[in-house]
Amino acid sequence: SRYWAVIPAAGVGQRMQADRPKQYLTLAGKAVLERSVQPFLMHSAIAGVALALQPHDPWFAELDIRASKPLLIAPGGAERCHSVCHALEVLLASGAQEQDWVLVHDAARPCLSQTDLDRLIEALSDDAVGGILASPVGDTLKRDDGAGQIAQTLDRTGVWRALTPQMFRLGMLHQALSSAIAGGALVTDEAGAMERAGYAPKLVAGSARNIKITRPEDLELAEFYWRSKQ
Ligand code: CTP
Ligand code: MG
Repeated sequence: SRYWAVIPAAGVGQRMQADRPKQYLTLAGKAVLERSVQPFLMHSAIAGVALALQPHDPWFAELDIRASKPLLIAPGGAERCHSVCHALEVLLASGAQEQDWVLVHDAARPCLSQTDLDRLIEALSDDAVGGILASPVGDTLKRDDGAGQIAQTLDRTGVWRALTPQMFRLGMLHQALSSAIAGGALVTDEAGAMERAGYAPKLVAGSARNIKITRPEDLELAEFYWRSKQ
């Protein structure tokens, strides 16, 4: 079975409050999206990449992405799960098999290392279900009472931050996402859809540097990581 990558890049970046979606902001001299796609274009095991873009996206054509493997474009949807679902359908329509693996990676995560990508593929390739990169939560967690006061301190033992890529079989993931969407369930990652379908995805420890750009300070941190990598 082959390996494919799906990059949902159809968000508007509301929390970033920039003049364009965050995947098109510049990070250490290149677009965030170029940096997020790069590990998959460079990896010899990845057969092709499907990107979900906003319809009429005016920014993508300006990027400098040179691909030596198929690069497919899918229409983004209302939520991330719709965008991913559309990209899976584009892959299936272009010859990918249901039993192939797919690695779904946020366009807003430009700091994925080749090492973590290797580690995920290595850890899961013999697995029946698949799993995700994740990192243990370090902060003490509080739940509020709805009025700005602490109601409870949560036990963070065994609590992980879900990262991407998230790696599953194409057919199983498509089915799980379709059924979550049809059921009106709120799933914010692929593992959430798989859990809802009754599977128990694996956790693969990954670097906490693999942050998602969500707010302006995240871009500053990602800049720092990139500069210290050189
Ligand atoms: N995404 C997508 N389609 C959507 C919504 C999000 O492809 N309808 C993508 C984003 O482009 C991003 C990833 O999913 O790469 C993670 O989502 P998030 O961080 O929430 O990005 P945005 O939705 O763009 O940001 P915000 O929620 O602040 O608007
Ligand atoms: Mg969002």
